[in-house]
Amino acid sequence: MTLLLEVLPRLNATLNATSGLCLLLGLRAIRAHRRDVHRRFMLAACAASILFLVGYGTRVALQGTHTFAGTGLVRGLYLSILVSHMVLAAAVLPLVARTLYLALRGRFDAHPRIARVTFPIWMYVSVTGVVVYVMLYHFPGHLR
Ligand code: HEM
Repeated sequence: MTLLLEVLPRLNATLNATSGLCLLLGLRAIRAHRRDVHRRFMLAACAASILFLVGYGTRVALQGTHTFAGTGLVRGLYLSILVSHMVLAAAVLPLVARTLYLALRGRFDAHPRIARVTFPIWMYVSVTGVVVYVMLYHFPGHLR
């Protein structure tokens, strides 16, 4: 159990980073008109994000939430990143579902329009997921 609790935060951060990387590579692929590569990277980004949700849910169920012990400016920075991350993470779920649905139904008239909104929000959520992890677990003395 202790090993699982040690591994899960790192694994979850890696899944967030993987999702962000797949999004970037997927965007690069569609800009190069490589539709099949784009599809694969975007599906991989979805898989990484779903696995992240499972991993995060498991960690919180086992351990509860953490409190950031930093103070002053760094605490303000942490909280603003955390709150924006959480709000946008909730908002991006229906956007991803709709973007994916349109693509899988072959509605490529409507897919790019919503995808251009989904993409930067999802990217922000993935990157700030990693930032929150680093601030919480790797700033000396900032976890309590
Ligand atoms: C939820 C995951 C996805 C996201 C975030 C996403 C994102 C995007 C974005 C941002 C664009 C516009 C690119 C630009 O501005 O140049 C785009 C276009 C496109 N996407 Fe996706 N995509 C996703 C899933 C898929 C899937 C699964 C497929 C294939 C089944 C697909 C097929 C396409 C195609 C064919 C275009 C070009 C449409 C056109 O302009 O004719 N996408 N996507």
